[in-house]
Amino acid sequence: MNFASDNIMGASEPVLRALVEANAGPLPAYGDDPLTQEIEARLGAIFEREVAVFLCATGTGANALALSALVPPWGLCVCHREAHVIDDECGAPEFFMHAAKLAGLPGTGAKLAPETLESWLAGLSSSVKQMPPKALSLSQLTECGTAYGRDEIAALSAIAHRNGMKVHMDGARFANALESLGCTPAQMTWQAGIDVLTFGATKNGCLAAEAIIFFNPQDAKAMPWLRKRGGHTLSKGRLLAAQFKGYLDDDHWRDNARHANAMAARLADGLTGQGLRLAWQRAGNEVFVVMKQAQAEALRGQGCAFHPWTATNLAPDDALGPDEGIYRLVTSFATQEAMVDRFLTLVDRTM
Ligand SMILES: Cc1ncc(COP(=O)(O)O)c(C=O)c1O
Repeated sequence: MNFASDNIMGASEPVLRALVEANAGPLPAYGDDPLTQEIEARLGAIFEREVAVFLCATGTGANALALSALVPPWGLCVCHREAHVIDDECGAPEFFMHAAKLAGLPGTGAKLAPETLESWLAGLSSSVKQMPPKALSLSQLTECGTAYGRDEIAALSAIAHRNGMKVHMDGARFANALESLGCTPAQMTWQAGIDVLTFGATKNGCLAAEAIIFFNPQDAKAMPWLRKRGGHTLSKGRLLAAQFKGYLDDDHWRDNARHANAMAARLADGLTGQGLRLAWQRAGNEVFVVMKQAQAEALRGQGCAFHPWTATNLAPDDALGPDEGIYRLVTSFATQEAMVDRFLTLVDRTM
């Protein structure tokens, strides 16, 4: 019973089939092929807008490249203090931004509140000694498995734009968030003020494929060179596009996310039904449960896999008991009901 992450599984069948189909015969290299062009056009149709699309193989690369297109070396990118870009990418965004800095702000459930952003920006000096804020990066889903509502994205984006900043969305779990919000891709992004999206696909069924999507193509003018010099332009680019073909065909990406979210809902309902509490409200395919540490150890001893999580983003009036911990359980397109139910039975025995 492995709930360690949604990247513990390989790729889904339709994605693998699409790769095999795209494999035969010669095609131009470096993404200059008809399949890549087809995917770029399809993403434009999905987002109901003219977009500039850059495929790449990792989420860290996609985030770092997207931010490097928005922030000059003397600029700041604001994000939540536990955002993946600041905490889990080994400095890749700063490296690609040529020494620009990330500034992490606090917020319950790993979400930034508009008031926090507004007052933090108001406290910056306009002196030349101060690095000016140039971008805001929001994770959707967040690192605590919560989702920003459309109004929240719009409010944060409006503040950022008023302050001369662009807005990036780290959508490593974009499809899960979309299913949770029940809105269109356009509504969750550019219509709410997002300028650039890292459209994650790896966690939700691809082998290694992400798309950087610019909603204002003029922001992407330097991207062909940024991506190439960053080592993220695949010579066999069609194999990235092929993964997206399998991912997008027949709404496979939406089905995968709906399944993962349903498995997480089953897990969350089962756990709360047994009297356990969730650290943050579940939005997609991640469940953060509060358990006794001994209980977690007992489950690990029975072969269950999951990660402990930090309590720093709990609501101010929430606190862990001395022997409690927060544990993250992640479901995926490949999680089976039987696996969830077996886990719940084991949890029941530890209660
Ligand atoms: C919020 C978030 N952003 C981005 C990523 C992508 O990172 P990777 O470089 O591992 O594909 C992850 C993966 O864990 C993530 O959780």
